[in-house]
Amino acid sequence: MIKHDVVVIGGGLAGMRAAVEAAELGADVAIVSKMHPVRSHSGAAQGGINAALGNRDDDTPDNHTFDTVKGSDYLGDQDAIAAMCEDAPGQIIWLEHRGCIFSRLPDGRIAQRPFGGAGSPRTCYSADVTGLVILHTLWEQLERFNVKVYEEYFCTALCVEDGVGSGVVAYNMRNGQLELINAKATIFATGGAGRMYLKTTNGYASTADGMGIAFKAGIPLMDMEFVQFHPTTLKENGVLMTEGARGEGAYLLNSLGERFMFKYAPNKGELASRDVVSRAEWTEILEGRGVDGCVLLDMRHLGREKILERLPQIRELALDATGKDAVNDPIPILPGAHYTMGGIETDKWGATRVPGVYAAGECACVSVHGANRLGGNSLLETIVFGARAAKHAVEYIKKAGDVRPSERTLKAEQDRINQLLARSGGERAPKLRTAMNSAMSENVFIFRNEGQLGKAVDELVAVRKEFDQKAYVMDKSATFNTDLVGALETDFLIDAALCVATGALARKESRGAQARTDFPDRDDANWMKHTLAWRTAEGQPRLDYSRGITITTYEPQVRTY
Ligand code: FUM
Repeated sequence: MIKHDVVVIGGGLAGMRAAVEAAELGADVAIVSKMHPVRSHSGAAQGGINAALGNRDDDTPDNHTFDTVKGSDYLGDQDAIAAMCEDAPGQIIWLEHRGCIFSRLPDGRIAQRPFGGAGSPRTCYSADVTGLVILHTLWEQLERFNVKVYEEYFCTALCVEDGVGSGVVAYNMRNGQLELINAKATIFATGGAGRMYLKTTNGYASTADGMGIAFKAGIPLMDMEFVQFHPTTLKENGVLMTEGARGEGAYLLNSLGERFMFKYAPNKGELASRDVVSRAEWTEILEGRGVDGCVLLDMRHLGREKILERLPQIRELALDATGKDAVNDPIPILPGAHYTMGGIETDKWGATRVPGVYAAGECACVSVHGANRLGGNSLLETIVFGARAAKHAVEYIKKAGDVRPSERTLKAEQDRINQLLARSGGERAPKLRTAMNSAMSENVFIFRNEGQLGKAVDELVAVRKEFDQKAYVMDKSATFNTDLVGALETDFLIDAALCVATGALARKESRGAQARTDFPDRDDANWMKHTLAWRTAEGQPRLDYSRGITITTYEPQVRTY
């Protein structure tokens, strides 16, 4: 058995930030990750990280808080949002002091670019590779503190004994052994669930692992119906073209050559919030003003020098996938699945309902994004809430005694995996994953209605049943069995997708990223409440609305850009 005081599941930005904080506070901490930390999906984050540094104008954490509350369409919890925005400048300086190479203004201060829905340019960046730069900074800190990393360990279940978290069960991908990892505090930082969709900006590893594990252990997922569709992703492969391009001045054009965004957002145009821009693009396409089913991202007027200095990665990504050079050609783009606003329910310290169990980053729902996240607040969330969860966990373990290793969870997981391996026929998991992807991509997209959502729920319930009764893996080997790991990931994705579709069907209003054509208005009288989704034996989650929205300062207003 492996034993540590704190284990962090996931080696992306939230996970590494949590582990470094715990190590700095003197805790015995380890990371358990299905891949090497610097290969995490956080490395794909491009455009930047928000903080009201106040170095270019009179921007303040209060302004950042207001923009985030408005961006959330008033569904975010304002105490948690304020905590994030107040911690932000300190966390940027913390990163800078540990060697993070941010782009600079000519006078040496950290440069900040405008991002969607923000009242001031407050997005700090490293060209268009910000996530990768922060990832390497944190990796150096892990090395500095000699934090143990269990790499290529796939976490399969949470252990809860005597009502408290007592670690996890993880599958060692190198030898096929399941191992108990005993810990007084467990922090999930496993990222998002973009792979619910056929096309996504997310890496192949974004498979809802932490969400699925927590859900199966009886912790609710919150606000899962709110999925962000990023306005600028490549038509060919769904790869992200950063919002930083529009921040630097790029335009969106339709087939008539019009900059159409000012019809939809007269004040902000291309820099309205993402839900608004994605809906506008999709409307242009549906009304026949698309270009081969896309709209165009035009950067040509920025000039070669600026593109090469500030946006070199997306120029290359577009060139590789489309053959078009953004210096000379507009790039065809579409809205694509990008981020899950929902996740494992936590408080503003990342604590779940189960003592000793925490979540941070995209897998968590704190909730700071509400119904729609602002660009640049995701990297911020990983850093702020990774650190906050670790701080709380380290205080918690000082009082917690030893926790019982959960032999029964190990046994249950062994039985579950043996069953997948023992079946010699049935349905292969990749086929079930494709069925889930189709249900989501066709029916739970930017615009939704009762008919489509009901169809998605029915299809997903059927997929859930088929998986439970018939899923099998062809590869029976013990070493790097990616067929098995893929099946376990699919299992988690199906749970997440069911929570998204069920929550979206039940929420009879439009708010943020949930646009119901049959309920086009926001309904504050009935829907200012969080959605909690609980696991049931039948497959379809049970919803409850017992958690209200925390409003401290800003009463809901009409939201325009
Ligand atoms: O567009 C982007 O660079 C993405 C940023 C984000 O999701 O926060």
